[in-house]
Amino acid sequence: MEIVGYQAKINITQVLPCVEEKIIGNQEFALKRLINASWLYDPFGDNLTYGVEFGIGKYFSWEFYLFAETVEMAEELGGALLYNLQERYRGLDGQMSVYPLYSEFLDIKRSLYELILPSNPPLKLHFLRKIINYYKTPQRKMDATVFIVWKRDDLHASPDPLKFMLRTFVTLNPNPDFSMDLEERELKTNAVLRYFVSDMSIPPYQKAKHDLVPPIFWRNVLTTDVFPEKPEYGQLPREFMPNYIKPHLIDFDIPPEMPLSKPPILENRNTVNLAIDFNDPNYVYVGTKMNKGVLSTESGLIAIDSLTTHLNIFGKTGTGKSTLIKILLHQIHKKRPDIGILILNFAKPYLEDDYPMAHVYKFPSEKFRVPYITPFDRIMISIKESSNVFAACLGLKYLGPGIFSETLQRCYSKFNKFPVDIKEFFNCVDDNMKTKSWEPEFKQHVRATFKRRINELFYREDLEATLNLLDGAWKNIPEWFKKWKEGGTVLIDLTKCLEEEQHLIGMLILTMIENLIPIDKEKSNRLKYLLMLDEAHRILGKPSDGHPESPEFIMKDKTNSIYKRITQESRAKGLGIITADQHAHLLHSIAIDSARTKILFQLGYPSNQIFTGIMNEREMLLTLQERYALVITNTERYLLRTVDDKIP
Ligand SMILES: Nc1ncnc2c1ncn2[C@@H]1O[C@H](COP(=O)(O)OP(=O)(O)O)[C@@H](O)[C@H]1O
Ligand SMILES: [Mg+2]
Repeated sequence: MEIVGYQAKINITQVLPCVEEKIIGNQEFALKRLINASWLYDPFGDNLTYGVEFGIGKYFSWEFYLFAETVEMAEELGGALLYNLQERYRGLDGQMSVYPLYSEFLDIKRSLYELILPSNPPLKLHFLRKIINYYKTPQRKMDATVFIVWKRDDLHASPDPLKFMLRTFVTLNPNPDFSMDLEERELKTNAVLRYFVSDMSIPPYQKAKHDLVPPIFWRNVLTTDVFPEKPEYGQLPREFMPNYIKPHLIDFDIPPEMPLSKPPILENRNTVNLAIDFNDPNYVYVGTKMNKGVLSTESGLIAIDSLTTHLNIFGKTGTGKSTLIKILLHQIHKKRPDIGILILNFAKPYLEDDYPMAHVYKFPSEKFRVPYITPFDRIMISIKESSNVFAACLGLKYLGPGIFSETLQRCYSKFNKFPVDIKEFFNCVDDNMKTKSWEPEFKQHVRATFKRRINELFYREDLEATLNLLDGAWKNIPEWFKKWKEGGTVLIDLTKCLEEEQHLIGMLILTMIENLIPIDKEKSNRLKYLLMLDEAHRILGKPSDGHPESPEFIMKDKTNSIYKRITQESRAKGLGIITADQHAHLLHSIAIDSARTKILFQLGYPSNQIFTGIMNEREMLLTLQERYALVITNTERYLLRTVDDKIP
């Protein structure tokens, strides 16, 4: 097969529209800007012929093409044109490839039409708009390919540098989803062609029209050989002169409705380029930074020890939060195996499949235990903490803490230990209330209230079994906690819990963390323990009804204060917390405030308003594509595309 030459093709994958600035009064400036925005141009200045091909089918495509005799030349021209387009248009990106043109494949039978547009129209021609409108037509029965070929004028003796020769061609194909006979096909074809040249005639002398061209002409279109050569001597006769157009007379700037993805742009980007790579053991690699809407070569890295000031990941469902967490935790596990990782799973069954290195504890099971009272350095703290947690979870704000702690103190002073079964403990609470010298009616009421609340929460036995003391001794620490503290990866599966049960267990776990993780005496500022809360609203959510007496409010308020204490001490303890959720605005403000690093995927309203006051950024957060995120650390601010998930 004979090779005629090579075609360099640039498939444009994304671009930002050219912003229409309203410039009043300064016509010269406006014209300049328009010419700068038009892609009817000759970037290399050597009167090459440029082509563009629009594919209007199931998908929309926009490709620039150039013809060259050799592969090397095609590579050079295509590469240079892509760089040039990227420099000229914000956020433009594309893929350049070079194809050989075999003479056999240029022998195309399909009908090819030329659209003949008038030269020097008094009003701007809207050709690109027509192409886009046609693509957006519902129930479009004909697919189309449009070719536009242009070259800067080199035929006139003293050519105007802003004058371009331009020819446009169209070929139409029935959409395979609709069946059509030949006659209908012809009618449809004519309708489309007529639409493309509508509104372009300059009556009465110049009419925009369409013409069938011989199939042999396909070769010329694809090799960009469509304009006359300048004769060696003298002028080209007038009748052979092609049509001319100036850039400002045709809508070749990039309109907002261009059906290509529009990359997000961050106005006040601020990044530090550290001389570290993604293998550095003290950093986790989260993805590639974007620059001016295009993926750059810079890596997004987060210092592992900076997690002691916590990380928030927010974004709508399906934007890539859980996957990013998985990537983060796997890297931390590999790079710093001494760090204990505790994953509290509230929502995703079989999450353990993603973490083969984890020790898994499921609720309910014999293996997973959270004793209702655990030893802290002083017995009174143990008593107080447990009493507060139970009072909060049962919604017994006033009498609860006092009665519970009094009962526990009594048990302890009498027997030097606590009841093994939580049920037994609640019996003791009731016995304690019976001895009170309260008004009989009031006493009756209080006892009934306690009983009702307890029965509501402890209606199933497996919750009781989980909370009973280990081996009868209250000083025993559950196995999962020891494993975590020793640097293991532990996954606690609470997906089978009811919401209130998740709260109670979550609070007991937070209390244990608060009291059993010691202050790091070496003050190394290194991360030692990591807590991961995906779907964090399950325990860090704001109360949904505002009534400050409601059990829900009391419980969530209490969680808030425990969480606040944990985050305040965590740096000194080497404890880091990663929280992820889809609705930032439904979390306690402390859960958002305390994190110094944020990774924000696409957010809905009003979550998008929490992290930035800049209108454009709020808008951008509303429309970010999956796996793109705004990263805010204490020194940096950048957009990122998350690393590919290669974890099996
Ligand atoms: N980094 C990634 N690499 C490959 N696929 C990803 C990546 N992030 C997200 N995805 C795809 O998107 C889907 C949803 O991501 P997920 O992390 O579950 O989102 P979220 O937790 O925000 O709801 C995943 O199932 C996966 O197919
Ligand atoms: Mg998720």
